[in-house]
Amino acid sequence: MIIRSWLFVPGDSERKLAKGGENPADALILDLEDSVADARQEIARDMVRNYLLAHSDRSHQQLWVRVNPLDTDLSLPDLAAVMPGAPDGIVLPKVYSADDVNTMANYLSALEAREGLALGSTKIHCVSTETAASLLTFHTYLENVTDRLVALTWGGEDLAAALGATDNRNPRTGDYDDPYLMAKSLCLATARAIDAQPVGVVFVDFRDLEGLEAECLRDRRAGFFGKIAIHPAQAEVINRTFTPSVEEVAHAQRVIDVFEQNPGLGTVGLDGKMLDMPHLKQARNVMAVVQQIEELA
Ligand code: COA
Ligand code: MG
Repeated sequence: MIIRSWLFVPGDSERKLAKGGENPADALILDLEDSVADARQEIARDMVRNYLLAHSDRSHQQLWVRVNPLDTDLSLPDLAAVMPGAPDGIVLPKVYSADDVNTMANYLSALEAREGLALGSTKIHCVSTETAASLLTFHTYLENVTDRLVALTWGGEDLAAALGATDNRNPRTGDYDDPYLMAKSLCLATARAIDAQPVGVVFVDFRDLEGLEAECLRDRRAGFFGKIAIHPAQAEVINRTFTPSVEEVAHAQRVIDVFEQNPGLGTVGLDGKMLDMPHLKQARNVMAVVQQIEELA
């Protein structure tokens, strides 16, 4: 299943959990990490498990859980508490390298066995750039990483703290500074290299839907697919901008047609422009995305 919008929902908020279920987001990320105060950790675990158990039909909206990082003593109890609810996947924050993702995969295998779930059914989405070390270990994903890892996103807020920054954006333009653009690019290339989904970073200014749309288009141009949301109003914008437009689909179909009509040719002309294999591949990607989005409906 392809996921355009991933909406974070604080795991200890009855009201927000209810709102999430009515939201068009393709997936919810029920949060047990930063949006939950320490004193409410136990309550949040119970609420998230109960929400998962009460929402076992995931055909229109997947349910993922963000657990605490592996270098805390909260992550295993988080996992043990929610696995009875069979989440579609786990969002793993603050990774140092692919080793963390593989460790999570081992924990999931044990808990799937305990719960009688199919081995390997719980996927992983990692937040790949929240520690300083993470910027230097992307190669480890290409060496050996679990098949459970289906998505990578990045983050600029924890990374700023990890890098000792006073801010992560240019105060004049509002654009991310250099280290964050590098993090973004490394996340994108790594995800594509291992055939995982590169997911755009959260857009924190949740009242600015125009700004969100512009950033979605920029992410999509670069190769990201989908984006993290933190507010219900963001999901519609994300779904729309990551759904290929009627014009894009029509163009993709014409590209595919012109190659089919000219078998054996590696380069053809269309509307006065040269097309070759990368264009055909892009056109096929558009059609594949459209098909997966139709399956969602
Ligand atoms: N999921 C589900 N519902 C949400 C929501 C979310 N992420 N964010 C807001 N809502 C609900 C609110 O409860 C409110 O519903 P109500 O009127 O029935 O109470 C409605 O949507 C409108 O919310 P609004 O008043 O515009 O925002 P807010 O000031 O209540 O909340 C935030 C703003 C940022 C605190 C909130 O959006 C939020 O908690 N986001 C998620 C934060 C998070 O998980 N962060 C961790 C990942 S970075
Ligand atoms: Mg906390």
